[in-house]
Amino acid sequence: FKVACYGVRSNEVDIFKQYNKYNYDLTLIEDLLTEDNIETAKGHDAVLLRGNCVANRRNLELLKSWGIDLVFTRTVGINHIDMEAIRDLGQVVARVPGYSPNAIAELSVTLAMSLLRNVPYTTEATAKEFDFRVKPRMFSREVRNCTVGIIGCGRIGLTEAKLFQGLGAKVIGYDIYQSDAAKEVVEFKDSQDDLLKEADIVSIHSAYIEGENDQMINQHFIETMKDDAILVNTARGELQDNQAIIDALKADKLYGFAADVLPNEGPIFFHNFDRLEDVPDETVQELIKLYPRVLLTPHVGSNTDEAVKNMVEYSMDNFEEYLTSGKVANLVE
Ligand code: COI
Repeated sequence: FKVACYGVRSNEVDIFKQYNKYNYDLTLIEDLLTEDNIETAKGHDAVLLRGNCVANRRNLELLKSWGIDLVFTRTVGINHIDMEAIRDLGQVVARVPGYSPNAIAELSVTLAMSLLRNVPYTTEATAKEFDFRVKPRMFSREVRNCTVGIIGCGRIGLTEAKLFQGLGAKVIGYDIYQSDAAKEVVEFKDSQDDLLKEADIVSIHSAYIEGENDQMINQHFIETMKDDAILVNTARGELQDNQAIIDALKADKLYGFAADVLPNEGPIFFHNFDRLEDVPDETVQELIKLYPRVLLTPHVGSNTDEAVKNMVEYSMDNFEEYLTSGKVANLVE
């Protein structure tokens, strides 16, 4: 059983080897799947994708023409896969919803706390300017007196809620699906607006569903937030309207913003630009200029030892389950 695995970073190679427990014939490809390298899938029985791989209709049709029906992904999110095309072509998608939610939750907490305590601002002064004076922005609120609002209270949101509770914060949540486990931890609000009006820190963990919640974080969203609140998005960039966020930062409505994701992040993340002007999105250039009130990380939420191991291991289990039973619990429909 031959699997072409895409987006395999050098530090993942050993993990792929170690967790290839069913002895599949794995081709480890460092690049993400694109329209240009799709031919590399030829001759395989399945592909294993990562976020930002291009699984659009054209690529899926090509895979189908080479007999590849299994389009599995080692991610929670599936917005890189054209599910309508998958259904039309009769292909099968499975994902890994349960890999270490702590990985992303911890990054969200870290980014929020960094902004709350102005860590980048403070360390930049000491490291780059050798300036050890204490400035007004080096005073801050304590998180135990903050209300944290979590939008999207699935595995990751719930994990973050517990982490913030451990720090003494009050945690409120909003989600249309409210698990019993989440209800025990989070005080659910009836509407997103109700949450935004109360939260000092807002953290996003919603799935992105094209056509449903594009640019959910827009002008109205931010205007509804408390003044001086912190906003963190480690979910999907398509959920945010960069311009609305920039305007709110410039107007001092938002205290700070952090994102591990960007709209159309593919041409930006994992590339190295010589000059700011080379970053291929003017709103992202503006966000960069707003550092240290804006912190951007290149989709590293899942880059922990535990998550990377789980992503590989659970993907192999998905394949094995499908091959032995014709079904897979982590099927995406
Ligand atoms: C996901 O699992 O959905 C992620 O965002 C992780 C990333 C490697 C794409």
